[in-house]
Amino acid sequence: MQQTRLRILDALADGPVSGPDLAAWLDISRNAVWKHVEALREEGFDIESSDDGYRLQSVPEYGEAALQFDLDPEYEIEYHESIASTNSRARALAADGGSDVVVVADEQTGGRGRLGREWVSPSGGVWLSILTRPDIPPHSAPAYTLAAAVATARAVQSVGAGATIKWPNDVQLDGKKLAGILTEMEGEADRVSWVVVGIGLNANVDPGDLRSEQPATSLQATVGEINRRELVQTLLAEFADLTTDLDAVVPAWREFATTLGTRVRVETGDSEVVGEAVDVAFPGTLIVETDEGRVEVTTGDCEHLRPAE
Ligand code: BTN
Repeated sequence: MQQTRLRILDALADGPVSGPDLAAWLDISRNAVWKHVEALREEGFDIESSDDGYRLQSVPEYGEAALQFDLDPEYEIEYHESIASTNSRARALAADGGSDVVVVADEQTGGRGRLGREWVSPSGGVWLSILTRPDIPPHSAPAYTLAAAVATARAVQSVGAGATIKWPNDVQLDGKKLAGILTEMEGEADRVSWVVVGIGLNANVDPGDLRSEQPATSLQATVGEINRRELVQTLLAEFADLTTDLDAVVPAWREFATTLGTRVRVETGDSEVVGEAVDVAFPGTLIVETDEGRVEVTTGDCEHLRPAE
């Protein structure tokens, strides 16, 4: 979003400001201030004019300007009403040298899930991908996925729903899938070049529209329609905070985990590990106590089993 418009919004957020004061502060003409205010109104910002000056009455529910306004971490928002996949777009931006960009879409027409699956992404959900260039070795990158799961669970908590996490990164409500994370990266042997963390959260959508392989739910179906702008801003602030100290991610993840202490079956692609999930170690490795001893699982599809299975 245009810097001048963001500065106008920041100024109006604290109360009414007159046109001449804004013009002097921004070093532009009063006519230019008026044009920016009109443009903001067209983007859905409700800006009232009175004798005291301009006053910001309300912010649009979603969209680029709404998300960028008052965003705490320093990410640039790129918003699309509809796009094939925010992860694919973020990867293209990475190839062009981009960083600290969050691609957000109202709808995805080719959403991608883990293990090559489709991710159904109707209008009303939260579909976003965070592109960063962290100074970490590639083996630490899974901690970014866990951080995204924790950030999502905390954002879901902030709207009054009690989220849990199934290893590695399924955010659930009442045992049904609410959100998933797809992390993609590129790097050298000792350093990550870029990471794209894609988060799909069934927010204001009907679970009947999700066509998911496993039972799925949405915030709309559990707590009702939520303000996606506030939720995304909370999520991004939590993610930025968690990734400043990767050692704190696994302990934060454990607070939401339902997998630990549970009997699990993990499909790892070429084999299957069955036993009790006893812990998660940095950067996200599941430790399973099997009949043959402890097994460390770094990736796979995890199913929670009933004790007798
Ligand atoms: C999973 O299979 O659990 C992960 C799903 C990840 C979906 C998100 S939606 C935003 C981003 N763009 C994509 O194409 N996928 C991820």
